Amino acid sequence: MLNVVVCVSGGGTNLQAILDAVESGKITNTRIAGVISNNAGAYALERAKAKKIPAVCISPKEYETREAFNQALLQGVDELKPDLIVLAGFLVNIPAEMVQAYRGRIINIHPSLIPSFCGKGYYGLKVHEGVLARGVKVTGATVHFVDEGTDTGPIICQKAVCVKQDDTPKVLQQRVMEEAEWQLLPQAIDWIANGRVQIQDGKVFIK
Ligand code: GRF
Repeated sequence: MLNVVVCVSGGGTNLQAILDAVESGKITNTRIAGVISNNAGAYALERAKAKKIPAVCISPKEYETREAFNQALLQGVDELKPDLIVLAGFLVNIPAEMVQAYRGRIINIHPSLIPSFCGKGYYGLKVHEGVLARGVKVTGATVHFVDEGTDTGPIICQKAVCVKQDDTPKVLQQRVMEEAEWQLLPQAIDWIANGRVQIQDGKVFIK
């Protein structure tokens, strides 16, 4: 049974997709052990509580220094004994000590086709604003392992989504979530829970 901790910052639609997929059996061999948010007002926390899943806020505002927050975050994660940490719209730079402690066991969903429109400054709506500003015809989403960089770890799965001429950033974000993110993240978790994911020379192979 894969013990999963989900880290969130916002509305939690990706978390909801995971919870629904566990409930429906689309994700097997998996238990959501807890949800951690850096934002006390994150609706994602309400979504977890509705399913009776332990949900806590560990906010940088509660700590004097970033180092103290990083330690509290790592401790909060450790206490849940995760086999896998899922970053589902988590707008916090993962501390290096956490990447080291959980190397190969942290995944992230990014709302573009990495390596396009990713890295520093590309998060949330900003990703889709960049897509529309560049005029690309296809975008999508990516699930990848987390390493010390930003959106630079080995790619697990991706899905393309068409950009429409009258798209606004909000409309495009919603389509990318519906058509890509909410499919990819549960898929990746189920593959990992069933031992189907292998990393070789920085590339991911699905058995
Ligand atoms: C959205 O911008 C989504 O594209 C990205 O994180 C943001 C919040 O998602 N993955 P969620 O609704 O909190 O899952």
